[in-house]
Amino acid sequence: MNKHKSNNIEKVLHDLHEDAKKDYLRIGKGIIKAAFRPIQPIDFENAYLPISKPQGFMLRQLIIDNQFKNVVEFGTSFGISTIYLADGVRQTGGKVITTELIDSKANRAEQNIAKTGLQEYVDIRIGDAMQTLKNHTSPIDFLFLDGWKNLYLPLFQMLESQFHAGTIIYADNMDMAGTKHYGEYVLNKKEVYNSQFIEGGKAMLTACAA
Ligand SMILES: C[S@@+](CC[C@H](N)C(=O)[O-])C[C@H]1O[C@@H](n2cnc3c(N)ncnc32)[C@H](O)[C@@H]1O
Repeated sequence: MNKHKSNNIEKVLHDLHEDAKKDYLRIGKGIIKAAFRPIQPIDFENAYLPISKPQGFMLRQLIIDNQFKNVVEFGTSFGISTIYLADGVRQTGGKVITTELIDSKANRAEQNIAKTGLQEYVDIRIGDAMQTLKNHTSPIDFLFLDGWKNLYLPLFQMLESQFHAGTIIYADNMDMAGTKHYGEYVLNKKEVYNSQFIEGGKAMLTACAA
């Protein structure tokens, strides 16, 4: 890929991060919709809820430094994190499988990824990750968890048999209550997982030893 295309990826990411700055309005509307019932993913169908730029740079660099090829993402939203992951696997010869519950969000992600020219590195699966990744039977080098928080643990456990020595799991939003059981499970399994909190406790990076 030439420098022109790389610049284009950065430009698309810049524009998406700028648009995502208006999320506070979209999140507010979502919370109002859910005033008398528990919040659901559909309440945030118009919100990016993205990772930050430094987190994106880190995801991409982790893939490149470790030469990861098989990358799985839980929670595509409008594709900001997916673009960082895809730009990583572009440089390692790999592929990203990403999954998004809400059709309209997955469609927007597809359009955003197409603007970067990285679509050949991405397989977007629309639906509940517990279903779309159910039959995933190939090794996972890198797992990025950023979907509905109470699914971190069941999804992790469903995919755990595909991890190998050197697999890295990046879990975002570890400061949210819904991720508690995931954190406890991974931190207690010290013989297999070595974890550290990053981003001031917002995220957790876990390396698999076996
Ligand atoms: C925090 S956002 C992801 C942000 C994205 N990773 C980024 O940084 O640009 C979480 C996304 O997970 C999706 N999601 C929630 N539950 C899901 C499920 N069961 N399966 C797949 N996606 C889900 C939501 O619809 C939402 O778009």
